[in-house]
Amino acid sequence: MAGYTDNYERDTYGIIDFWVRNNFEHGEFFDREISHHELELARANQQMVDRMGKIFKKTESKTGDIGLIIDEAKSSTKEFADLLMHTMDRALHCDVIISTPTSLLDHMIREAEEAERVFKLIETNSYITPADATLHENNFWLRQMLDHLLFISHYVDASNYELHDQVRAMTRKFENLLLQAQALKTIIRRPRNEVSPVLNTFNQMVIKEAKALEAFKLELSELIKACAAVTTAPPDLLEHIAREAHHLWKNLEDQVVN
Ligand SMILES: [Fe+2]
Ligand SMILES: [Fe+2]
Repeated sequence: MAGYTDNYERDTYGIIDFWVRNNFEHGEFFDREISHHELELARANQQMVDRMGKIFKKTESKTGDIGLIIDEAKSSTKEFADLLMHTMDRALHCDVIISTPTSLLDHMIREAEEAERVFKLIETNSYITPADATLHENNFWLRQMLDHLLFISHYVDASNYELHDQVRAMTRKFENLLLQAQALKTIIRRPRNEVSPVLNTFNQMVIKEAKALEAFKLELSELIKACAAVTTAPPDLLEHIAREAHHLWKNLEDQVVN
């Protein structure tokens, strides 16, 4: 599958690459949805895309000082998050012409904030226990997975009745998984010195479902790329969210936040 980087190397360069590429692609997707009435916003967004593109060229070649790359990744991510937050505020006041749903702006902001957290973890070389790490990953990413299914419904044309049914069934499944993740966060209290059997069972269930979701997204991606599905999704969007599903189950297997 050309271009699908599900198996990026999980060294420090690889982790920074994942997050910077994530924001870079958000900028590219957003670019398609800004009205020509919003030239200033389009230009500011384009500058972000250019800036982040330069960083992940460096992380891809695995050259350059990690400290400097993280500084640059941190400041560009923050600036991008600020631009999205400002846009979301304008959207809430019906003061901007874009076709991006407000919940999708919020989704991208949350991923930018998570990127900032991960950069900080790398910088401070922090250790997170396997139980804390998997509870965090489940709580953060299951909400994102649920959003992805809602966004698939948004982009896939209403005429795809069978597909909408399928997406709805998966949405229900991920709603349940998210609720369970939220419940376990308070049921399993700190200090969390072990991955208890209950947490382990849940993690294994999420790993299985995230793998199935990744496969579904890649299948739909093939259809969209071949222009064989009626949709307004950007061509690379399904690969983007498949990579995030992969990121979730891989982090659960490794019991880390990154
Ligand atoms: Fe993303
Ligand atoms: Fe996402």
